[in-house]
Amino acid sequence: MVQPSVMPAQPVLPAQSAVPAEQPTLVGEPDDRAADGLALAELRRVWGYEHFRGDQAAIVDTLIDGGDALVLMPTGGGKSLCYQVPSLVREGTGIVVSPLIALMADQVDALAALGVRAGFLNSTQTHEQRRATEAAYRSGELDLLYLAPERLRGEETARLLDSGRIALFAIDEAHCVSQWGHDFRPDYLQLSMLHERWPTVPRIALTATATRETHAEIAHRLQLQGARHFVADFDRPNITYRIVAKDNPRAQLLAFLRDEHPGEAGIVYCLSRNSVEQTAEYLAAAGVPALPYHAGLDRHTRASNQARFLREEGLVMVATIAFGMGIDKPDVRFVAHLDLPKSVEGYYQETGRAGRDGLPSTAWMTYGLADVVQLRRMIESGEGDAAHRRRQGQHLDAMLALCETVTCRRSQLLAYFGQEGRAACGNCDTCTQPRPTPGTARSPPRSCCRPSCASTAAGSATAPGTSSTFCSASAPPASSNSAIPT
Ligand SMILES: Nc1ncnc2c1ncn2[C@@H]1O[C@H](COP(=O)(O)OP(=O)(O)OP(=O)(O)O)[C@@H](O)[C@H]1O
Ligand SMILES: [Mg+2]
Ligand SMILES: [Zn+2]
Repeated sequence: MVQPSVMPAQPVLPAQSAVPAEQPTLVGEPDDRAADGLALAELRRVWGYEHFRGDQAAIVDTLIDGGDALVLMPTGGGKSLCYQVPSLVREGTGIVVSPLIALMADQVDALAALGVRAGFLNSTQTHEQRRATEAAYRSGELDLLYLAPERLRGEETARLLDSGRIALFAIDEAHCVSQWGHDFRPDYLQLSMLHERWPTVPRIALTATATRETHAEIAHRLQLQGARHFVADFDRPNITYRIVAKDNPRAQLLAFLRDEHPGEAGIVYCLSRNSVEQTAEYLAAAGVPALPYHAGLDRHTRASNQARFLREEGLVMVATIAFGMGIDKPDVRFVAHLDLPKSVEGYYQETGRAGRDGLPSTAWMTYGLADVVQLRRMIESGEGDAAHRRRQGQHLDAMLALCETVTCRRSQLLAYFGQEGRAACGNCDTCTQPRPTPGTARSPPRSCCRPSCASTAAGSATAPGTSSTFCSASAPPASSNSAIPT
């Protein structure tokens, strides 16, 4: 599902050239109108929920009134209702652009079960299925129509949309438009055409991960300059963050599962397909019900493993990052990383799949400098121009800084997303088991992690503003703000 990262086609937007820091951030109580009116009636009638959460009511009102919105809300925060409810209230069909092709059928089925008339158009359908959905749209029989972004590449889909009535455009997983971010999809770049072609149709862009840079890039690339920005609190207080020194990672994982989450559902992320397969086999042999998921498995196996994970209890999904975006399973009790994610955005999004039900959950990771060396080699020998590689290196530096921090991990994570100044949380390992300095018992052996550099601990220095392990010869650029790459 997740495509490999792609070489940037255009220069990345400088962070200061767009909006986020200056934009009003609207956080807080629901607006009265949506809280009392037709939208609330729909929320209660269709979903059976009593109240809107957080910013939902204000966002719903903005769209019902014909305005644009840019929504940053953590995983499981309730972004879907922000466009589903106005699609029911406004005349016409809400058009939802989403990269989650493998989930569209499930999403549409779930809506149908609630009595919402929804359809989708993507490459998994037969010609007849597509034609039937198009006919339903034209005759005004759909409340919501989900589209894969590549559908909007040709004139054919635009003509189809013109042949019906559009209530709004929702651009889900909007961080995919960002070349700065970690999930870039080239097809998202053309979504600015929505505004050019249908300037009066309200638009909403939604994502669960956005640094200031990504936030700015979303606003800029989707031409959302006039939109209201809604930025929710990114803290997930029910998730405990822990990062341990990598020793024998599979044995460490097994001990973690047996000690802390026996019989519970969770996700284990590995960097390579090979490692996914071997880890799933290792766990299964040790009596832990585990399934593999990666892009190299055939479509049927992937769909079947995903469906089992969603429906059965207590399964462990061992996966590459191809798994997880948009998965709405409430009781994922842990997310474990056996390898270092490539960016803090990726780490936050992946760990955010734990504890959507609000109950205590664990984000656990093993980390060793060998991971960093491996990732740096991949970056240095990977595709893309020098600027692209430099950006990837900065992402990795920030991830490394999070691993090596001696201060509260949660506050550092939130600061990365621009929510600075939090007190120590008391619910992460650096809070509950403080260590005096990096390089002690729980810390991996220190030597410079850049493969091109042979320095060892003697010549090493910490990255400015962080406690990361870089030798002075290869220290990353100074970061003004904890781990934010500059
Ligand atoms: N106002 C509400 N009252 C009760 N439950 C809600 C409300 N809004 C959303 N939910 C529930 O919260 C869960 C998460 O919602 P949703 O799938 O929209 O999250 P999301 O923000 O899109 O997350 P992700 O980033 O993972 O896609 C769903 O099960 C949804 O039904
Ligand atoms: Mg969502
Ligand atoms: Zn903490």
